[in-house]
Amino acid sequence: MSKNILVIHGPNLNLLGKREPKIYGKCTLEDINGALKKEAKKLGASLRIFQANLEGEIVNIIQEQSEEWADAIVINPAAYTHTSVAIRDCLAAVRIPAVEVHISNVFGREEFRHKSFIAPVAAGGVYGFGKESYILGLQAALYTLKNGKK
Ligand code: DQA
Repeated sequence: MSKNILVIHGPNLNLLGKREPKIYGKCTLEDINGALKKEAKKLGASLRIFQANLEGEIVNIIQEQSEEWADAIVINPAAYTHTSVAIRDCLAAVRIPAVEVHISNVFGREEFRHKSFIAPVAAGGVYGFGKESYILGLQAALYTLKNGKK
């Protein structure tokens, strides 16, 4: 049966392509979303994709979509990874699993990026592979659903 995957891009990811290209590469959010849609088609999954700069907006999207539609979440919480108890609590509260994704290798960067509030409540994470982190994250979300893990 086809699975519904919610993809969330956090703050400043709308600036990809122009934003610190040495760290995040040259591909835009549109490029990433295009690659995700292509992979989803191949894997027989349906996607809904959101980008939000506001923490509360991300909480609302997770609550609403997990209640009515989504089977799993692929989320790059961006800077909120390192600060947000609200997003962490929301992911813990919902019944569906989440995969944490980062474009850069957060553990090879500043120390404040080494802490993730999200990792303990995620099924797992992918980081450091640029655009491919999202593709691997989508595959990981489907793997997680197949293996019955929240
Ligand atoms: C990021 C890493 C975060 O530390 C940073 O705040 C971002 C992007 C990444 O995808 O590499 O905005 O989540």
